[in-house]
Amino acid sequence: MNVQAEEQQRVAAFPAHSADSPSRGEPDGAISRALRPLNTGRLRDDYQRQGSFLYLSEFLPADATQQLIDAANALLPEVNRNYLPGHKAGGSVSRHTIDRLAPYIAQLYRSPQLIAWLEKVTGDRLQLSPEDDPHAYALYYYTRAGDHIGWHYDTSYYDGRRYTVLLGVIDNSSCKLDYELHTRDPNKPDEPGSVQYPPGALVLFDGDMLRHRVTPSLEGEMRVSLTLEYVTNPNMRPWRRFISNMKDAIAYFGFRQVFRKALGAKV
Ligand SMILES: [Fe+2]
Repeated sequence: MNVQAEEQQRVAAFPAHSADSPSRGEPDGAISRALRPLNTGRLRDDYQRQGSFLYLSEFLPADATQQLIDAANALLPEVNRNYLPGHKAGGSVSRHTIDRLAPYIAQLYRSPQLIAWLEKVTGDRLQLSPEDDPHAYALYYYTRAGDHIGWHYDTSYYDGRRYTVLLGVIDNSSCKLDYELHTRDPNKPDEPGSVQYPPGALVLFDGDMLRHRVTPSLEGEMRVSLTLEYVTNPNMRPWRRFISNMKDAIAYFGFRQVFRKALGAKV
């Protein structure tokens, strides 16, 4: 299938919003404006030099960022809180809830312009995460003192690679994304870094290559980030599916969201 046919398939899989949709504006147009000033060749070099990691402090246009902020606030009642002692505390809203209540985010995820640009930077052919993956696009909330996530990789349980895009949505916090580059490259020394990415900023990395964490929030702080996940092969072996589902149910979205198919997709 050629690139144009694939893009048409992506768009067809999630048609443009209808007249009664709450979304405003077209995310693909916003992405087009975001990409215009970028030197993609140079960014690809940066991405490779940094061991499959790229950070852009300014990416989304202000109107698109505002749509994400509005969605993040509107979805506050939907947040699923979770707590893993010693590793993670925070809230999440899965793609299934976003599909129901925040179609702009779902459309942004499928933006053909965004995917084509990510393919140029990563050098990989990217595919959407499967319909039943709650991480495909999700909002992460840090709203209570001590919300954080410890050091980890965004491990791919798929047969291919898993890429993570983080977009800053709300940041009235002191939280930092700490990371270490080159930890999987025996020929390069580990290189630590830290960013406090603001609304509209973009972080892109290969999930299995970047060791990272988010430092704990303080009392009265609020931080929301949007994650988009793309894969190079959406196939997942059954035992890995089981491990992935259990992790997602316990650490992120709750059993009702993760096992919604088994529950009749009523959640
Ligand atoms: Fe992560």
